Amino acid sequence: MANLKTKICNIEFPNPIWTAAGPTSANAGMLRQAAEGGAGGLVTKTISVQPARVPIPNIYSPFAGSLLNAELWSEMDYRNFIDNQLPQIKALELPVIASLGYSPDDLKLLGKGLEKSGLADAIEFSIHYIGKDIENLKQTASALKQQVSVPVFAKLSPSISDLKSVIQALDEIVDGYVAINSVGPALDFNIETLQPYLGSQDGRGWLSGRAILPIGLHFVASIYSLSKKPVIGVGGISSVQDVVKYLMSGASAVQICSLAILKGQQVCGELAKELSQWMDEHGYDDIESLIGIIHRKKDRKQYFLNEGDQLYPLIQTERCNFCDRCVRSCIHHAIRFEEQEFLVDRSRCVSCGLCVSLCPKSALKLIENFY
Ligand SMILES: Cc1cc2nc3c(=O)[nH]c(=O)nc-3n(C[C@H](O)[C@H](O)[C@H](O)COP(=O)(O)O)c2cc1C
Repeated sequence: MANLKTKICNIEFPNPIWTAAGPTSANAGMLRQAAEGGAGGLVTKTISVQPARVPIPNIYSPFAGSLLNAELWSEMDYRNFIDNQLPQIKALELPVIASLGYSPDDLKLLGKGLEKSGLADAIEFSIHYIGKDIENLKQTASALKQQVSVPVFAKLSPSISDLKSVIQALDEIVDGYVAINSVGPALDFNIETLQPYLGSQDGRGWLSGRAILPIGLHFVASIYSLSKKPVIGVGGISSVQDVVKYLMSGASAVQICSLAILKGQQVCGELAKELSQWMDEHGYDDIESLIGIIHRKKDRKQYFLNEGDQLYPLIQTERCNFCDRCVRSCIHHAIRFEEQEFLVDRSRCVSCGLCVSLCPKSALKLIENFY
C-alpha cells in the first residue's frame, strides 16, 4: 500500500491532505471533526490582532463546486485563540499550522504569543490584505520570522503579477509557500432585487472552489520552478485527481477549503484514502515520487495552426455514445455524424481541441496529420 506519510520542514504528517484557513478551521471543535475525518494536518483560520468584523451574508455559491465569500479573517480574539483554542487543537495530535495576518506589528505580537505557547508546529501568514509592495512583504515576513522558531510559510494571493520578484524577495526569509488564496475581488448579484449576494460594503467577495483550480496549479508549478523551498497547494480541489495534479505540479501537500464547506469535514480523510488507492493503481509508492514530476517531462512537441504538422480529432467509435456534444460545441461546424460515422471536415477544423475535452466518454483524441 502506498505510503502517504510526508515530512515537510522536519514536521511529519500522516498524509498530505490538510485543512485550509476558512470557516471549517475556525475553532477546535471544527478541527476535531477534520482530524476525526482523517486530515493529515490542521491549518487554522487566520487570526489577527483585531478580530474581523464579518459582514453577513458572507458565503454564496455562484455555480456548482465554487463559492464567493466575504468572510475576511477570524472574528475570535487572539488571546482566546492562543489560550483556549490552540491547546485543544494541539491535543488532536496532528501537526498544527497556525494562520496569522496581517501587518508587521500584528505578526510581531501574534508570533511572540504563539512562540511562548509552544503549540504551533508551523505558521502561515497571509499576504491577502497587505498589498503587493515587495519591501512591505519582506518586512512582514521578517517581523514574524524574528519572533518564532518554527517554520514560516508565506500564503500567496493570486493577484500577484510578478511572482518571480516576490519569491526572490521572500525566499531568504521564509521556509516555504502556500498557494493560492481565493481569487478576486469578484461580484455576483440578484437581477430581481438588484442586491449583491454578499453583505460586504461593495457587495464584492472572493472566488474559491472548482473554478480556480487551474490558477492554483499555475502558481504551484511556477513557485516549484522558482524556489527550492516546499510549496503547499490549495485552490479548487474537488477530487483525488486534483490532489494528484497539485503534487505533480510541485506541491508537497495540499489544503482543502471549499470542498469541506460544501461536502463536510471528512473530505480530507476521504481524499487521503482515494489518493492511496490511486497511487497503488498507478504504481507510485510514496508522495515523494509524485512531487513535481511534470517538470521532468519536457519532450512536448508544439504545433501551430496552418504551419507544418496539424492535429485532428480521431474517434474511438466503441466508446462513443452519439451524445452530439462534440458536434454542437464545434463552432466551426467541422464535425458531423453520418450514419453513425464520425466525420471531420479538415478545411473547417482549427484543431482547438475543445471537442476532445468535452467528450463525456473520452472517445476523442487529437492525432497528428490524421485523415
Ligand atoms: C469562506 C472562506 C473563508 C476563508 N478564510 C480564509 C482565511 O481566514 N485566511 C486565509 O488565508 N484564507 C482563507 N480562505 C481561503 C482558503 O483558505 C483557500 O486559500 C481558498 O479558498 C482556495 O481553496 P479552495 O478552492 O479549496 O476553497 C477562505 C476561503 C473561504 C471560502
